[in-house]
Amino acid sequence: MPTPTTTPPTRILLGPGPSNVHPRVLRALATPLIGHLDPAFIELMEETKRLLRATFLTANTLTLPISATGSAGMEACLVNLLEPGDTAIVGVNGVFGTRMADIVERCGATPVRIEATWGRIIEPDAVVRALRDAPQAKLVALVHAETSTGAWQPLEEIGRAVRNADRLLVVDTVTSLGGCPVRVDDWLIDACYSGTQKCLSCPPGLAPLTFGARAIDALRRRRTRVQSWYLDLSMIERYWGEERVYHHTAPISMNYGLLEALRLVAEEGLEARWRRHERHHLALKAGLAALGLELAAQDGHQLWTLNAVRIPTGVDDAGVRNALLDEFGIEIGGGLGPMKGSVWRVGLMGESSTEANVLLLLSALERVLPRFGHAVRAGAGVAAAGAALA
Ligand SMILES: Cc1ncc(COP(=O)(O)O)c(C=O)c1O
Repeated sequence: MPTPTTTPPTRILLGPGPSNVHPRVLRALATPLIGHLDPAFIELMEETKRLLRATFLTANTLTLPISATGSAGMEACLVNLLEPGDTAIVGVNGVFGTRMADIVERCGATPVRIEATWGRIIEPDAVVRALRDAPQAKLVALVHAETSTGAWQPLEEIGRAVRNADRLLVVDTVTSLGGCPVRVDDWLIDACYSGTQKCLSCPPGLAPLTFGARAIDALRRRRTRVQSWYLDLSMIERYWGEERVYHHTAPISMNYGLLEALRLVAEEGLEARWRRHERHHLALKAGLAALGLELAAQDGHQLWTLNAVRIPTGVDDAGVRNALLDEFGIEIGGGLGPMKGSVWRVGLMGESSTEANVLLLLSALERVLPRFGHAVRAGAGVAAAGAALA
C-alpha cells in the first residue's frame, strides 16, 4: 500500500510571497501539454512577450520569462552585463540588495555598496555621489520593492542620473511588478526583472525579464563568454526570438500559467490594479494603527504590496504567526536578517490584495494579539480599515 500523503491545506497567503492564485491561472496550469517548439506554443510565447512588455511598460524587444524563479532573473541580469574585473554600484538596504552584491562578486566583478539602514531607501544623492566616486562602474543595481523591509525605492531621479553618467540601471521589481507603478522606459531602466509569485499572482517558477538597447549593446560587446550557460541571454533570445532555436525545454505549464496571469492583469488594467493595491494597503495601515501597530519602513516610502509591521515589545513573533495560521489559515511572514523577531511581513499582492483579506486579518489580529499581551479595543482595527475603505 502506498503511504498516505498530506493534502496541502487551503491558505490565505498574506506573507512576502507566494500570493494566492486566481482559479483561471490554476486551470491554465492543468492545460494539456504541447511541445516547446509547437507552432501553437510559439503563438503563446508571442502573446506572453507582448503582455510582459505591456506590464513592464516598455517597448523592449528582448522581454521574456526566464525559466526559473526571481533570483534567476537577478542572476540573469548581472551575469549577462558583468564580466570579471568590472565594477557595479549596488544599493544595499535589505536582503535582496545584499544578494545582488553577492552575485556581482560571483561574476568576478567588484561591488561598490551604497548602504542604508534597513527600512530606509537608497537616497538619490548617494547614487549620484557613488557615480562620481566610482567612474569605472558599469552599472547601478537597485531593488525597487525591498521585500525584507517594505521600503519603496524611488527611481526616476536615479534613472536620469545613471543615464547622464552613461551607466546602466538594473532594477529588481520582484515585489512591485503588477502591484505598483513600474515604468521601465519612462524611468530609463536598462535591465529589469521580476518574479511570477508576487503581484502577478502566478505560482513561483518564472522570472519575467526585459533588456533595453543599451543593455543589449553591453551584452554584444562582452570580451568574455557569459559565465552561466543556462542564463546566457544571447542563446535564450534565439529561442524566444525569430529563430526558435532549442536552448532548453521551456516549462510549458508554467508558461500557460503566466500567460493567463498576464491576461488577468491586462483585463483589470494596470492603473486599476495599482489603485487596488494602494487602497488595500492604506486600509490595512489605518487598521493596524488603530491596534497600536506601526509600519517599519521609512515614512513616505512604504510599499503598497509589502507591509513590514513592527512587533510590539514583549509580543511573541512566532506565537502570533502560528495562531494566525492554525486558527485562521492566514500566512504572514516573519522578519529576515537584522529585522528577524522585530517585524511581521504582511503582503497584499495580486489576488491576495482584497478588502476581505484586510478585514479578516485585522479581525484575526484583534482576537489573537490580546492573548499575547498586546491589548486592543475589539473592533477598532476593522472599524478604522472600514472607514479608510468607505
Ligand atoms: C525583491 C526580491 N528579489 C528577489 C527575490 C528572489 O525571488 P525568488 O525567491 O523567486 O527566487 C525575491 C523573493 O522574495 C524578492 O522579494
